[in-house]
Amino acid sequence: MLNISASAISFKDKLGKRVVVRPTSKLDRNKIVEMYSTLNPDDRCLGLPPVSRQAIEAWVDYILESGFSLVAECDDKIVGHCAVIPVGRNLELCIFVHSNYQNRGIGQQMIRTMIKLCRQTGFKGICLITERNNVRAIHVFKKTGFKIVDCSYDCEMYLQL
Ligand SMILES: CC(C)(COP(=O)(O)OP(=O)(O)OC[C@H]1O[C@@H](n2cnc3c(N)ncnc32)[C@H](O)[C@@H]1OP(=O)(O)O)[C@@H](O)C(=O)NCCC(=O)NCCS
Repeated sequence: MLNISASAISFKDKLGKRVVVRPTSKLDRNKIVEMYSTLNPDDRCLGLPPVSRQAIEAWVDYILESGFSLVAECDDKIVGHCAVIPVGRNLELCIFVHSNYQNRGIGQQMIRTMIKLCRQTGFKGICLITERNNVRAIHVFKKTGFKIVDCSYDCEMYLQL
């Protein structure tokens, strides 16, 4: 578990809906599993989230235990999950916004909030891998400061903290 001290922030998304971005609590686990269980399969990236409920639960438990997570809440549901996990001197980031809430500015807000928090940690940088054809994710990561390191197979990106 990575301890980062953070408080909740609230903003209006592109549809004018109030969204809260905050660190996860233990009570969020089932709501996060629910978000991944109802994600459109087209939104899976590099085989994630896993397909079966049991595998989603094991994956979410692993992320919550080994890293630091933010969730986005809207309409009383968890609609976004962004996590960082230590890998040597860097943090590895993953993010998913529920299919019904994409393209509303939630992903960028979560990534910017996460970067700000990670700057307090002493880690060197944030790395991530996405699919080469995931143009929307690559656009969002570039817009929030990530640079492409290698895009010859999957797309590896990095942001120095
Ligand atoms: C990638 C993801 C996290 C972004 O979150 P989001 O809340 O949808 O993103 P935002 O609304 O903040 O920003 C979307 C941006 O992409 C742009 N966009 C949308 N579709 C696009 C496309 N097909 N090509 C290029 N840009 C696109 C939007 O115009 C917007 O950019 P702008 O602010 O410059 O106008 C989210 O879409 C998601 O979970 N996707 C599925 C899983 C995934 O790819 N995860 C990340 C990598 S593993």
